[in-house]
Amino acid sequence: MTKSEKLIKLNNKILRCSQCALCANRGHVVFGAGNPDAKIIFIGEAPGKKEDELGVPFVGSSGRILDKMLASIKIKREDVYLTNICKCRPPENRDPLPEEVKECWPWLKKQIEIIQPKIIVTLGKYALNSFVPDTKISEVHGKILKIKIPKLGELKIFPLHHPAAARINKKTRTLFEEDFAKIPTLLKNKKEQ
Ligand code: URA
Repeated sequence: MTKSEKLIKLNNKILRCSQCALCANRGHVVFGAGNPDAKIIFIGEAPGKKEDELGVPFVGSSGRILDKMLASIKIKREDVYLTNICKCRPPENRDPLPEEVKECWPWLKKQIEIIQPKIIVTLGKYALNSFVPDTKISEVHGKILKIKIPKLGELKIFPLHHPAAARINKKTRTLFEEDFAKIPTLLKNKKEQ
């Protein structure tokens, strides 16, 4: 089975997920989008209103920033894979609850197992702390963290601020842009692959 076929099969299963209360009010499960053979996967927090409406990750205001940043490093959206820690929208865009993150984690783990990206870019603290708990984004953003996860082996996590935080804070925006600009080198660097 190709990676694409495996993702389609997984997507069909997640559509029926009722592991947490978020299933009650969702418009769509937002599984993920992009290239199943991507070397790099971007992981956000949870779908917002627009994403919930369309069933596609990062199509609202955060997505526009992400698209702009990808264009700035000459990478197309179709070349990367985009997903979230939580696949369903929390009401009023509230932060995901620990139990929602916990219930959704196996889906993300499966996606990573299938895609086998070289680099995992976490966007924001929720995505970062799902992989590396008790870590402050202010201390580790823009640095590769090597971690081991059962069944997935060694992963290279590249923590970035969330695009929504970059949108509202000028200093965060600068850090976000500086960190983002490191991505092409990371993808080229054999040591990081
Ligand atoms: N914010 C996220 O973290 N993910 C999305 O898909 C959209 C906004």
